[in-house]
Amino acid sequence: MSHEVVEKNIGLMALFIVLVISVGGLVEIVPLFFLKSTTQPVDGLKPYTALQLEGRDVYIREGCYTCHSQMIRPFRAETERYGHYSVAGEFVYDHPFQWGSKRTGPDLARVGGRYSDEWHIVHLINPRDVVPESNMPGFPWLAEDLVDHTMTAKKMQAMQTLGVPYSDAEIAAAADAVKGKTEMDAIVSYLQVLGTSIKTRR
Ligand code: HEC
Repeated sequence: MSHEVVEKNIGLMALFIVLVISVGGLVEIVPLFFLKSTTQPVDGLKPYTALQLEGRDVYIREGCYTCHSQMIRPFRAETERYGHYSVAGEFVYDHPFQWGSKRTGPDLARVGGRYSDEWHIVHLINPRDVVPESNMPGFPWLAEDLVDHTMTAKKMQAMQTLGVPYSDAEIAAAADAVKGKTEMDAIVSYLQVLGTSIKTRR
């Protein structure tokens, strides 16, 4: 009987539908804001240095994320190839994170330490010099263009307001830390730290 009432009253039905979906959604989403594993940095996670942060911005500007993800899924085929699967606590200081899902090239979540700085430089200038079959474009201008050191401290301040634990001393030293460095120096130092906060090498 009471079911018939709900079925014949579309307003009441809509209300119940909204109620059910809201409860379902809240139950799934709200705990994520309180779980330690999704909100706390993993042990050993350090904020990007001034140079690495500038490198991250070069990575975004050049659209590296259009071909590279930074998220290893917890499947055998992925962990065999790339190393330990990504965990949420590794990305707590990433604003915005670069997870992505488009993989024209390999995932880069654990590329840090896999190659030498020299390899990265040669590869970024012209990938085919080290990987003949590569279809990745070259980014030769990175080796010539200098990092704009006037914005670095401001960027770090912005990160600070988002909860990244930069000290005021680090921010004050930021401009000098990147002055005279090329964008190549910056992006290579960024690539070399990716995925290194947890021990993963087998
Ligand atoms: C059009 C797609 C494309 C873009 C854009 C691109 N890449 Fe790649 N990348 C690839 C492909 C394909 C490979 C695999 C072949 C190779 O190693 O060159 C690769 C390989 C790599 C590797 C070696 C990964 C490994 O584990 O061997 C690194 C590091 C890398 N790319 C960094 C970058 C960076 C940094 C940028 C932006 C400046 C970038 N890529 C932009 C397609 C791309």
